[in-house]
Amino acid sequence: MSFLTILVFALTFTITTAQNIQKVSDVPISWVNCTTWTDQLSIEKVEANLWPPKRNQLLTVTVSGQTKESFIYGDYNKTIVYRGYSLPSITGPLNDLGITLPAYRGPLKVTIFNSTIPEVAPAGAYDVYVKAYEQDHAEIFCVKISWEF
Ligand SMILES: *[C@@H]1O[C@H](CO)[C@@H](O)[C@H](O)[C@H]1NC(C)=O
Ligand SMILES: *[C@@H]1O[C@H](CO)[C@@H](O)[C@H](O)[C@H]1NC(C)=O
Ligand SMILES: *[C@@H]1O[C@H](CO)[C@@H](O)[C@H](O)[C@H]1NC(C)=O
Repeated sequence: MSFLTILVFALTFTITTAQNIQKVSDVPISWVNCTTWTDQLSIEKVEANLWPPKRNQLLTVTVSGQTKESFIYGDYNKTIVYRGYSLPSITGPLNDLGITLPAYRGPLKVTIFNSTIPEVAPAGAYDVYVKAYEQDHAEIFCVKISWEF
């Protein structure tokens, strides 16, 4: 269990060990739409700074699209599933995802993941679910990305 705790902390809080990472252009990645009913953000692309992710390197994943309406505030719920085992969810305000609120109808880019993958990240399949909700709890989007070490 303890390494999972380390993992969730390492993935939750930004670590500043990844220095001198060369900025490369973002690459489109495949993703799964886990929206259950309505998506207020019509997703056009999901991109990563590098793919597949590498240990000890910053992984930044963004979602871009068009919002169908404005929203004043909202929350997100991020769940990392490692080898089918759900780590404790991380929740917080949408501002944490780099959104300036209120967000108006139109183009929106959201940073759904921005953490250095720990050197000790164990081998196996990783699924990351990021769900965003607006003030009335309507889903803005739900994106699942997956990789394997
Ligand atoms: C994602 O799923 C929702 C709900 O089924 C759907 O309304 C939406 O169009 C889908 N978005 C994309 C980009 O496929
Ligand atoms: C976050 O999502 C997980 C997985 O879907 C769920 O079990 C959990 O209850 C959610 N937490 C909140 C605060 O919505
Ligand atoms: C992502 O994290 C890096 C390293 O901490 C930081 O320099 C950068 O500003 C963050 N980017 C976003 C979009 O939050």
